[in-house]
Amino acid sequence: MGAGYVGLVTGACLADINLDVTCVDIDEDKINLLKKSVVPFYEPALEEIIKRTTEKSKLAFSTDIRKSLQHANVIIIAVGTPSLEDGNADVQNVFAAAQSIGAYINQDCLVVIKSTVPIGTTLLIKNEIQNIIQKRKQHFNVDIASNPEFLKEGNAVSDFTKPDRIIIGVETEHAKNTFLKIYKPFVLNQYPILFMDITSAEMTKYAANAMLATRISFMNEIANLCEAVKANVNMVRMGVGSDNRIGSKFLYSGIGYGGSCFPKDVKAIIKTAEKYGLPFELLKAVESINHQQKQLLFKKLMNHFKSIEGKVFAIWGLAFKAHTDDIREAPSLTLIQAITDAGGYTKVYDPVAMPNAETQLKHNPAVTFCQTANDTIKDANALLIVTEWPEFRILDLQIIKTLLKEHVIFDGRNLLNKDELNQFGFTYYGIVMKN
Ligand code: UGA
Repeated sequence: MGAGYVGLVTGACLADINLDVTCVDIDEDKINLLKKSVVPFYEPALEEIIKRTTEKSKLAFSTDIRKSLQHANVIIIAVGTPSLEDGNADVQNVFAAAQSIGAYINQDCLVVIKSTVPIGTTLLIKNEIQNIIQKRKQHFNVDIASNPEFLKEGNAVSDFTKPDRIIIGVETEHAKNTFLKIYKPFVLNQYPILFMDITSAEMTKYAANAMLATRISFMNEIANLCEAVKANVNMVRMGVGSDNRIGSKFLYSGIGYGGSCFPKDVKAIIKTAEKYGLPFELLKAVESINHQQKQLLFKKLMNHFKSIEGKVFAIWGLAFKAHTDDIREAPSLTLIQAITDAGGYTKVYDPVAMPNAETQLKHNPAVTFCQTANDTIKDANALLIVTEWPEFRILDLQIIKTLLKEHVIFDGRNLLNKDELNQFGFTYYGIVMKN
């Protein structure tokens, strides 16, 4: 249930190991696209798997919730849980799914919560389903499980099929055995399935995202300090990451974390902690550092230009990270708004996120949408690199010099070589490098 990133990737990958899967969603437009094997968002490798599994009739798409649920042995809830205004996760989609399950199932089944839900929600969902079944005067055994997903956008298929670990919160042996059958093809000995109680599984998901967000905010603070003391943050990253206890992944400083998960999940776990009288001060700091970090490129821009009224800026990259077209909570949006508010104009380009960007930014008359990266720099006062797309690493400096009005580059992802750019006559600002 829910044909978003998590639902579609899960459905397609399970169909690929020859399970019979129906992805059901209330969004008719989305389902119609999927029936033609068109994935409504950019995710490498996914379309191929969907094509292959629909051709073999292993994967189907439907908006008919009743029909899809009636005879399902396993029902996976993978609907969205966005942030409410107060920071709590909005679980109304999950409860709507539970109500459909209660109303429509016609046999025993295992209900799996894959959506990221606040601690305690899975057991509430179980009660909800059972109450509705009771009202129908039926007696079905409904097993419930929490099976959080750890895939990253842009690498989703590979993360799903080669997981570091699979976390499953279960109540019965029967549920455990069902999961062992489902996931067997994806697990190697060294990558375990960890069975635990439901609450611990729910907590594991939040703890993992909160820990990763903390690493990023920590490294961003270290990077800002490196800049102040004239240390090289890249060397520092390699130095600390080589310690096995720390590890080298997820230590890149940048312009703050974005996307649909870290910002929402950090907020939600702070809210959960508050409910239990625990002010999660560390995570509040992680959030506040991230907020400041998202402003950093703009601050550097203002330091350089003093006033940007009437000036034009080329923005390369709009997605919150490379290999996705997702612009939710993207640092690019904060930057474009800040430039607009200060009276500046932006010309923007992203290899895959243009349709989403146009939907989001079409009401901002100070934004021009460009077809190519080079279109943005024509007569611009500076170039700002905001997403780490590989194509932005290799620049034709001669062309950029000819097209850019002023030879200034702000590199929000530290992709480029400062010395090389300086030699070529550019003023270069990295996100965390002293100039
Ligand atoms: C994140 C988690 O990594 C997944 O494990 C999790 O399943 C997912 O959230 C989720 O909860 O659904 P995702 O949001 O797709 O995945 O993206 P990440 O690759 O984790 O990147 C998140 C943000 O951190 C991006 O803005 C990225 O640019 C930033 N980041 C990442 C850094 O600034 N530095 C790094 O070293 C790594």
